[in-house]
Amino acid sequence: MTVKEILHVLKADNSEALFAQAREIRNSVFGNEVFQRGVVEFSNRCRKNCHYCGLRCCNGQVERYSLDADSILSAARCAIDAGLGTVVLQSGDDKSLDPGFIGKIVQSIKAYADVSVTLCLGDHDRDTYKYWRDCGADRYLLKMETFNSELHARLRPGQSVSERLARLETLCSLGYEAGSGLITGLPGMTPEILAEDLWRLSLLPLDMIAVGPFIPHPDTPLGRFWAGSLEETLRATSLVRIMNSKVNIPATSALDALVANGREQGLEAGANVVMPSVTPESVRSEYSIYPGKNSSVDSVLKNVVQMQRRLKIAGFHPSSTRGQSPLRTTKD
Ligand code: 5AD
Ligand code: SF4
Repeated sequence: MTVKEILHVLKADNSEALFAQAREIRNSVFGNEVFQRGVVEFSNRCRKNCHYCGLRCCNGQVERYSLDADSILSAARCAIDAGLGTVVLQSGDDKSLDPGFIGKIVQSIKAYADVSVTLCLGDHDRDTYKYWRDCGADRYLLKMETFNSELHARLRPGQSVSERLARLETLCSLGYEAGSGLITGLPGMTPEILAEDLWRLSLLPLDMIAVGPFIPHPDTPLGRFWAGSLEETLRATSLVRIMNSKVNIPATSALDALVANGREQGLEAGANVVMPSVTPESVRSEYSIYPGKNSSVDSVLKNVVQMQRRLKIAGFHPSSTRGQSPLRTTKD
């Protein structure tokens, strides 16, 4: 699709036909299977100051935490035992992060079970990415958020589109299954910018593409702006599916922060992955990227079981496989 065609679809008024088309493609590739990733948010420390994010370093309202290896591993084991085929290790862009610490955790998880390990740890140098890959990490998530240079630089101080893209290229060259994505409805983002962003994402060799709505966090400079639109985010999700039939697309937790059945709506619009938090309940609410994130106070197991129940009620089958993108196994 061209940027103009994408824009036309974003602005059209019948979403149902679009969602149905995307759903049909999703069903033809994945059936009613939904891949499950358990996310261990093991540290909320961050040196960056992204204007939209509650974990930004200037937000003094956050109680910062870092979990020790035992807590991380027991959360990961709990997720695996509950049938999740991928563990995601996620943190803010934590400058005190010791690469060796992560490396050992990756090795321990891989020794425990035949699962995929995804890292979502922000910007690091090539040697560190390579070391983690050598330790067994399979995937890396690095979201572009927006490809618009001006908006990116304004909302992500000190960071740039070109630098972020170069890192994604490095990750791909190291053999990671790379994931990226966008935030829709960021203050200053127009439909034209979103259309271009969707087009540019689809040109990259990605295994996973995430699209989530902006949710204003009161303790950030963007706290008084409107949230992104559910409708626009779902349309963007469908467009990603139509342009990238085999890519993994999560129904993001930010959708759930907008409406109670947000994730189900994401799956109905073409997504095929859910990523429940498996962060220990003692710190989960402190991973407060935006309001409504990690609002559950249930145990890790209960949280996962509840997500699986939701999937089944909506007619999906929670898959216990690693959930690799079929891009890896067959030609598109
Ligand atoms: N609304 C929606 N998504 C957000 N993120 C950060 N802040 C917000 C927000 N206010 C997302 C970004 C980031 C991930 C950790 O959370 O995409 O990559
Ligand atoms: Fe840090 Fe990521 Fe939040 Fe930016 S979006 S402030 S890098 S946790």
